[in-house]
Amino acid sequence: MEFSGTQVIAASRAAVWAGLNDPETLQRCIDGCESFVTIGDGQWAAVVSAAIGPVKARFKGTVTLSERRPLLGYSLLGEGDGGIAGFGQMTARVTLEDESYDASSTRLIYSAEAQVGGKLAQIGSRLVNTVAVKMADAFFTRFNELLTAGRRSALDEAATGPGAQTAHAAAQPGAAPQRDAAANVQLQVNGRLVQCQVDDRTLLVDFLRRDLRLTGTHVGCDTSQCGACTVRLDGVAVKSCTVLAVQASGGEVVTIEGLATGQGLHPLQQAFIACHGLQCGFCTPGMIMSADSLLRSGEAVDRRSICAAIEGNICRCTGYVNIIEAVRQAALAAPEVLA
Ligand code: FES
Ligand code: FES
Repeated sequence: MEFSGTQVIAASRAAVWAGLNDPETLQRCIDGCESFVTIGDGQWAAVVSAAIGPVKARFKGTVTLSERRPLLGYSLLGEGDGGIAGFGQMTARVTLEDESYDASSTRLIYSAEAQVGGKLAQIGSRLVNTVAVKMADAFFTRFNELLTAGRRSALDEAATGPGAQTAHAAAQPGAAPQRDAAANVQLQVNGRLVQCQVDDRTLLVDFLRRDLRLTGTHVGCDTSQCGACTVRLDGVAVKSCTVLAVQASGGEVVTIEGLATGQGLHPLQQAFIACHGLQCGFCTPGMIMSADSLLRSGEAVDRRSICAAIEGNICRCTGYVNIIEAVRQAALAAPEVLA
């Protein structure tokens, strides 16, 4: 099984790349790592104690980097022999992208795969995969925390250095006090685990659009009237301009980008096309996410329930006749597709 995740790290790509190549940082991110010794360029000998289901073992092995493209990413191979417990291997591909316009934050994307042999292979691939996902998640979460903490302490140093006094002295009387408002947000977005530090005042819609670049969720008013920002949060349609990202932490978000799960478009998307349920399309993502909530609720789908479901969504150009018909048509699709 291959699994993947994303971390948005409040540090430049250069800092993240340096961390990914720094043995001390890597060692601190590996749970149960007892030693991590350089044996070559991008190659380390490691000893790691780990529990995989009922099997506890001390793995001796290597971590090797390959396909290194500075500031862009690399491939990583970790192999460990646990003696009578068997052996394990994890391959991962790590990719870096600029996250913000000023390159002050970085998006780290990883995809990984784990394999085991010997006694470990007898405990079942499902359990092994669950443990591997947790280990990879813990590794990159810790990496994110270390990088963010490093940046914070650099900023703190700058703030308490000689230049800081000048800055404080220059502050106007009555100016708002500086606040340390970073909050850790971790949630599933369209089936992928996402974690990053955000200002605690960040709206969920801004987090999705700006930090995750999921711009299918629109902003039409910012005052909770138009519904263009509607997403599914923990199974319920919500206006993401009315929710803080930290309030959604720990939850599961589905945006219009994550609605279609099969090969083609979701039945609602198909029906909106077939019934001419859109013109400019600005309201469409929110309209579809509200309709999705109705179809998933199990409630009878008729004109009354459709109108109730989309009453918080404004369409400025198509009008509602075709939209209502599109939702009605979508409801005729197989229920298992809509579940
Ligand atoms: S942008 Fe959220 S309701 Fe309009
Ligand atoms: S299709 Fe243009 S606002 Fe609805």
